[in-house]
Amino acid sequence: MEKVITIDGPAGVGKSTTAKGVAEALQWQYIDTGAMYRAMALAATQAGIDPSNGEEVLPVLERTDIELYPTLPVRIKLNGSEVTKEIRSAEVSEASSKISVHGFVRRKLVELQQELGRKQPSVLEGRDTGTVVFPNAGLKIFLDASVEERAARRLRDYRKAGKEIALEKIVEELRIRDQRDRTRKESPLVPADDAVILMTDGMSLCEQIDKVMMIVRERFGIGDHS
Ligand code: DC
Repeated sequence: MEKVITIDGPAGVGKSTTAKGVAEALQWQYIDTGAMYRAMALAATQAGIDPSNGEEVLPVLERTDIELYPTLPVRIKLNGSEVTKEIRSAEVSEASSKISVHGFVRRKLVELQQELGRKQPSVLEGRDTGTVVFPNAGLKIFLDASVEERAARRLRDYRKAGKEIALEKIVEELRIRDQRDRTRKESPLVPADDAVILMTDGMSLCEQIDKVMMIVRERFGIGDHS
């Protein structure tokens, strides 16, 4: 069985925390595919182009080199410079959702993700890692939660970081990103036919990780986690 676990789902569902927790418990590589789309979006932003415009994005992509280190904490370089922090801004979040609609962007990044994931047992996190990147993954998880639940979790994260944002604004942003991610022509956000779908409303992140680890143990017969 391919030693690959894919964790897909919409924005704000706790994929990162869950995928990192599972990778850490198993001592497997952690591949944050969203970080790659974010780095590409940052390249577009730095070049001053519109990430939705394929004709403008193509030449930027051709001169863009992205290196993701599949470690914890995650590190990512864009054309040789570390951009680990820069890719987390709200502007880059929005641009990454826009740039990820282009098939030629996806093909380049999927290739990089497959190359990394083939080297060592890996946990991948994203939108299409179970459907497109590793369709033969040993385990595919699709995390989901209502938009209200995800917005409430985001609000708690913002507050912890000392930021105050209206809940309605977060709900609205999540709805827009969801709509774009789920309805794009190229690799839309959908669960793979053989994915385990976990509805996480009302679950804490710890419970989420525990639940996924239970499924991992059953599937692979590994990874004791108390
Ligand atoms: O998971 P994230 O928020 O870091 O992802 C940023 C954007 O990148 C998200 O809006 C959609 C896109 N993305 C994608 O299209 N496919 C992936 N496998 C991962 C992310």
